[in-house]
Amino acid sequence: MKIAVIGTGYVGLVQGTCLAESGNDVTCVDKDAAKINGLSHGVVPIYEPGLSELIHRNHRDGRLVFTTDLDSGIEEAEIIFIAVGTPEGNNGGANLNGIWTVGRQIALAIRKPKTIVIKSTVPVGTNALLAIKMSTITDIPFNIASNPEFLKEGTAIEDFNKPDRIVIGTRKQAVTEQLHTLYAPFLRTDHPFLVMSPESAEMTKYVANCLLATKISFINEMSNLCEAYSADINDVRRGIGHDQRIGFHFLHPGVGYGGSCFPKDIRAVVHMAQSRGISSRMMEAVDLTNESQKNILFQKMLNHFSGSLRDRTIAIWGLAFKPRTDDIREAPAIVLINSLLEAGADLRVHDPEALDNVRAIFGQKLTYCDHPYETLEQADALVIATEWNEFRNPDFEIMKRLLNKPVIFDGRNVFDISRMTTLGFTYYGMGQTISHT
Ligand SMILES: NC(=O)c1ccc[n+]([C@@H]2O[C@H](COP(=O)([O-])OP(=O)(O)OC[C@H]3O[C@@H](n4cnc5c(N)ncnc54)[C@H](O)[C@@H]3O)[C@@H](O)[C@H]2O)c1
Repeated sequence: MKIAVIGTGYVGLVQGTCLAESGNDVTCVDKDAAKINGLSHGVVPIYEPGLSELIHRNHRDGRLVFTTDLDSGIEEAEIIFIAVGTPEGNNGGANLNGIWTVGRQIALAIRKPKTIVIKSTVPVGTNALLAIKMSTITDIPFNIASNPEFLKEGTAIEDFNKPDRIVIGTRKQAVTEQLHTLYAPFLRTDHPFLVMSPESAEMTKYVANCLLATKISFINEMSNLCEAYSADINDVRRGIGHDQRIGFHFLHPGVGYGGSCFPKDIRAVVHMAQSRGISSRMMEAVDLTNESQKNILFQKMLNHFSGSLRDRTIAIWGLAFKPRTDDIREAPAIVLINSLLEAGADLRVHDPEALDNVRAIFGQKLTYCDHPYETLEQADALVIATEWNEFRNPDFEIMKRLLNKPVIFDGRNVFDISRMTTLGFTYYGMGQTISHT
């Protein structure tokens, strides 16, 4: 099929590339000329495992092309995916300017019938409203389907190739069949292709993110309680997880969720509820709990250093909002860095992929280290903010030698508290305590 994907960010680039890989002719459109120019010359703007290789191969073979010109980009396309950003607006609701702009451009440009598919996460009713807006501009028939994206940054290619499910929001049989044909190569493992109304599809994405964010805020709150009462959250997790109604997934204590989705999507749901006069107390609490969780490590550090971090040198491992991505949007590490800088600390930071993005924000204010050990030189403590695999098995003797004092604040429970204590570290985990003497 001939496909256009508008917006070549984390979602659009993966969508376009994986569809090209399955034999479609894909044109990726973005208004960011630098990004498109880079992609056309083999420069991939984001880190996502496995993505570069696929882009290079499909671009070389002519199935994947990049342009800033939306009109020509969609001319031949049978299906147009919209994957532009829908960031948080001023009132907490989603900012849909990108969706409306692209819808208008498509309506002005189309010369023959098209299927338009919204991949971006959008408030319920956006599909219907976009159709109304576009119909005032063009007489050419078009259908708009909703197809929310569930990929996880870090495993996006795998998620695309083997989706848990594909959700389609449409009332048109022809659109269902067209999209089923497009996605058939990814449904060979019998995973469901779920067709519902556009409103239900739009809602499905938010409900999924609300539940996942709730699980994180829940376990974080329980973890803080464990710490206060000398219980161990790892034991408690085992104690609850074997109950099949509960399970183990997504119940790891940490320093709060970040990224470009959960924070803004939870607030968008709060806004959607408020717009209809419905209570959203749970989601408000999830958001608040998460915001305060992002300060937990800073509070622990203040306590440890007797209330002052001035002129302390702190090493930080992990800056991306989660491992296997370079995405630092709403990352807990960024909140921590801001607090530590304000408190007068000197920071030596490392991340396997996100250093350039962090440098773009903080410039000269931080010392950027290419190797984790390099951060530890003369540092008064190490903080682990993101659980990259490469941090799991370091040489603890080297670490002790490099650090001024062997102090670790582990925001992701990467290490074992008993082992660390035996090795002579003053170790602060999440939801677990050992007396630090
Ligand atoms: N990142 C994720 O893990 C993820 C997962 C599921 C859903 N989503 C949703 O998918 C959407 C896209 O997310 P993302 O992370 O890929 O965003 P992103 O910010 O990485 O990329 C968006 C891209 O759209 C482009 N763009 C914006 N307006 C445009 C316009 N008018 N014309 C052409 N291009 C335009 C931007 O230049 C940018 O390259 C959002 O709604 C998000 O909530 C994201």
